[in-house]
Amino acid sequence: MNLNISLLGLQWGDEGKGKVVDYLANDLDAAVRYQGGHNAGHTLIVNGKKIVFHLLPSAICHKNIKCFIARGVVVSLDALFSELAEANEVLGDIEDRLIISSACSLIQPYHIKLDQLREQSANLTKIGTTGRGIGTTYEDKVGRRSVRISDLYDESKLNDKLTQALDFYNSIFEHSFGTSKIDLNELIDLNLKQAEQLKPYVGNVIEEIRELQKSKKKILYEGAQGALLDVSLGTYPFVTSSNLIGGVPAGVGISPSDIDYTIGITKAYTTRVGEGPFPTELFDDMGTYLAETGGEVGATTGRPRRCGWLDGFLLKNMVKVSGVDGLCLTKIDVLDGLEKIKICNAYSSDLTEAEMIETMDLELAQPEYLEMPGWSKLTAGQTSYEELDDNAKSFVEKIEEISGVPVIMISTGPKREDTIIRKDI
Ligand code: GDP
Ligand code: IMO
Ligand code: MG
Repeated sequence: MNLNISLLGLQWGDEGKGKVVDYLANDLDAAVRYQGGHNAGHTLIVNGKKIVFHLLPSAICHKNIKCFIARGVVVSLDALFSELAEANEVLGDIEDRLIISSACSLIQPYHIKLDQLREQSANLTKIGTTGRGIGTTYEDKVGRRSVRISDLYDESKLNDKLTQALDFYNSIFEHSFGTSKIDLNELIDLNLKQAEQLKPYVGNVIEEIRELQKSKKKILYEGAQGALLDVSLGTYPFVTSSNLIGGVPAGVGISPSDIDYTIGITKAYTTRVGEGPFPTELFDDMGTYLAETGGEVGATTGRPRRCGWLDGFLLKNMVKVSGVDGLCLTKIDVLDGLEKIKICNAYSSDLTEAEMIETMDLELAQPEYLEMPGWSKLTAGQTSYEELDDNAKSFVEKIEEISGVPVIMISTGPKREDTIIRKDI
């Protein structure tokens, strides 16, 4: 039986992970966020109401599920508290079923400030970040100096770490950017105040997960962002700063061999927010059509998402590096009614496929497309594969052929019930 299931997006994020996790949650006992932070925006439509989660696992809507924020996540306490306030209002008290690892690195105000200053600077490469201090916090984590949640409960350690941090950051703010400094005493007070509010949620995630594993509970590890934004295997430098591919063991504290099944999620087309190469991007009416029909606006920053055809070349390769066992295809309904649908299946470039994948430098990649006929019978809201138009089935089967893995699930609309299950895992 598959007890430890990893789920990740295979594109540049926003594949519909929130909706899919919410659907799968019916059969789960626990859900774990293991990387990223509140740069994520996962949208659910529950009983007609739209809910967006940034830090909390999307499965938290289900009252029987234990939720975890594990050590690989970078945590903004401001963001956490405002999300908790909203969640408590909609879901009732969640204090007894949310545990946050004491080993998480904290996003401090200086991380957010530096992230935003860099993005605004005319002299630096703009990544198009969410401005949430994600990359700067991971820099401190890897640099072995971040303030972790456990430090909040050791006042002298906290003072020491924040003093050292502000020595460094204030000097950059003043001398590199000519901007105001952050006050040390105010920052210490803020951390101590937030420490009290956070206390009921702090726990030992490794131990809790081991207990759940021992009692054969079903656990979902919920990736944020998407494989193409992975800091190591994505379209560097236009990526986020965490490892979502292979990130579960280090981000949670389980063994790589614990993972029984990996679900990869892909939209039926492609979107991207922020800067960076996007070989199948459409700048014509079709791009506008996908954006409008798919409602492609960032769930975290409200930025319009760039749109294009499905990139089968990247999908195939991301499936391979991520160890995906089965695919979930989302937003197929957005393609309803189109006369022709394209899928990129190769690039023409001076570089070989292997060279492209090695550097993921896609600036010069020219997509080659195969064209498929559209379908007239709507897929929107369908719950049975047999009911789909033959052309829609051919599209699904072409994706299986290109990616090399089965499509086990199809999402035909934003609501929980708009789902086709082809293989029960
Ligand atoms: P995530 O970050 O991967 O969770 O995705 P987002 O929530 O940022 O973006 C996905 C958007 O598509 C949200 O507005 C969802 O409500 C919506 N959505 C998810 N699945 C489907 C689907 O199958 N069809 C349609 N039309 N919308 C969907
Ligand atoms: P979900 O989980 C889409 C993108 C940003 C930017 C790059 C780096 O909703 O799929 P960061 O703030 O992480 O340093 O920004 O990564 N990005 C996302 N794009 N969906 C997301 O999350 C994203 N999280 C980060 O737009 O290009
Ligand atoms: Mg999103």
